[in-house]
Amino acid sequence: MLGSGFIGRFYADSLQGQRSRDKIVSIYSRREESAKKFAEDYQVAHWTTDMEASIAHPEVEVVCISLPNNLHEAAVNLCCKHKKAVICTKPLGRNAEEAKRMLEAVEKAGIFNGYLEDLVYTPKFLKALESVQNGALGRILWAKSRETHPGPHSEWFWDKEQAGGGCILDLGCHCVEIARSFIGKDIKPVEVMCWADTQVKPIDAEDHAIGLVKYENGAIGQFEVSWTFRGGLDLRDEVMGTEGTIWLNSFLRTGFDMFTTGKGADYVAEKAESNSGWLFPVGDELNELGYNHMFTDMFNAMEGNKPARETFYDGYVVNAVLDAAYRSAKSKLWEPVQLDIWRGKTGVGKDKTLTEYDAQYYLVKEEMTHFGAKKLILKDKNSGQIIEKVL
Ligand SMILES: NC(=O)c1ccc[n+]([C@@H]2O[C@H](COP(=O)([O-])OP(=O)(O)OC[C@H]3O[C@@H](n4cnc5c(N)ncnc54)[C@H](O)[C@@H]3O)[C@@H](O)[C@H]2O)c1
Repeated sequence: MLGSGFIGRFYADSLQGQRSRDKIVSIYSRREESAKKFAEDYQVAHWTTDMEASIAHPEVEVVCISLPNNLHEAAVNLCCKHKKAVICTKPLGRNAEEAKRMLEAVEKAGIFNGYLEDLVYTPKFLKALESVQNGALGRILWAKSRETHPGPHSEWFWDKEQAGGGCILDLGCHCVEIARSFIGKDIKPVEVMCWADTQVKPIDAEDHAIGLVKYENGAIGQFEVSWTFRGGLDLRDEVMGTEGTIWLNSFLRTGFDMFTTGKGADYVAEKAESNSGWLFPVGDELNELGYNHMFTDMFNAMEGNKPARETFYDGYVVNAVLDAAYRSAKSKLWEPVQLDIWRGKTGVGKDKTLTEYDAQYYLVKEEMTHFGAKKLILKDKNSGQIIEKVL
């Protein structure tokens, strides 16, 4: 495990939870006291302040990168040097150029690589995706994902150089991969329109943004991200298709509401802003945030000698979409997604939108009225005239 901070500990709780046979055998942390503390808390035999020593440790089979964004690439390069399988937290790079170098490096070294995008592994998401892939929603037209909270927990996030950006990169990476998964990871994201601003925080990066990602088949992805949202961690997705709709609420309203005056109140959930009054606790954060299913997929893939559901390639595509969002926020125009490496479909046209009624008409809509009549709205194929038929 590289990094003993916020996500390193969540990962460790998941990796070693529930009688798991997976074991952290070495912890690298920048400060000796943090490395030692982590080793004590998680019974890790080897701790070090030397990153390479941890990666090269003979018992290490896979390296888990839980370091600030600006350190991902150096860590990946060391994994390549020592031919160690590597799984890296999100975002893969600070930009697509960095992510592309990492992708090319792991592929050249021939090592297993996994992108730790936990939010496409939540139980709710996996079930929703299965329904979408089985056609329950028909053709996907729009997929929206929102992640907003009151701001990150460590200083480096707020420094544009170390983090690579603000909430677009930090939170938008989740949203883009969620929408992309619903729309289809083989469908090319082509252009992005984004509004971003620094509304509240005294920082150089954006603290609030909204973006639209256009896909080659005409579907639209939407992300809403903020580091200025009050009220906790808001994680919601909406998917709209020609045959159905899905709404997911992953965190603030999970069906567990609690009121307390604050007596005996403790930790409630990630980024909760209060521990009194009406609260929305989360039953099992590790599971509800997808960590358990994510590591299961990573290690099953590794052992089965096949790619994980999320690889460095996916991390690279996400970075490329976000780069376009940053360009658009500046230019105020639709900006093309620049993908030097694309492994999905190409030349996909906009899907067919017309529903046949009979030889003369297309069906626009049918509706049962409150007064018992069934109404059909039809369009004449030749004249284009719209008519209404009451049955
Ligand atoms: N849901 C998620 O997937 C999720 C959530 C939070 C963070 N993350 C990602 O995890 C990574 C780490 O974030 P975090 O929240 O754990 O941050 P953190 O600040 O809590 O922990 C970072 C760790 O890296 C160490 N570190 C900081 N600067 C360093 C340096 N210059 N050299 C060596 N070590 C250094 C810190 O001591 C700490 O151990 C980031 O890439 C972040 O985007 C992912």
